[in-house]
Amino acid sequence: MKTILLLNGPNLNMLGTREPDKYGTTTLQTIVDRITEKARAEGYKLLAFQSNSEGEIISFIHHEGQKASGILINAGAYTHTSIAIRDALLAVGTPFVEIHLSNVYARESFRHHSYLADKAIGVITGFGDFSYDLGLQAIVHYLRRTSHEK
Ligand code: DQA
Repeated sequence: MKTILLLNGPNLNMLGTREPDKYGTTTLQTIVDRITEKARAEGYKLLAFQSNSEGEIISFIHHEGQKASGILINAGAYTHTSIAIRDALLAVGTPFVEIHLSNVYARESFRHHSYLADKAIGVITGFGDFSYDLGLQAIVHYLRRTSHEK
């Protein structure tokens, strides 16, 4: 079965209780379960991974990225700092969508820059946990109309 990766970076394991005014009260597990189900309905296996460590995220991209059809990534704060995650995504060459729960452009200016965005298919930001549903729709749509399917 074709696979889509769902990668979550630092502090996203705290969803549900973390700054609920910004990130809502839905847990990451609830999001992963829902997106897994929706991916299955679209004919994809979802492989989800969360880590607070930049190196672990990079190693996961190395090991699983090339085998996957597409990647959904909420890199959390690493979005704004990590040239290394950008390079890992470029190294495997798998198309990806950047996701954020909050609207990063309505927040502090240091969140306005992303090291991933210019290499992403697109960016979804500001729709709360529904950003993940939109991200899945976006990557499935992209994969259907391109020859990237693996
Ligand atoms: C985030 C936005 C980032 O700026 C922040 O560091 C996060 C979460 C979001 O989903 O809105 O950890 O990626």
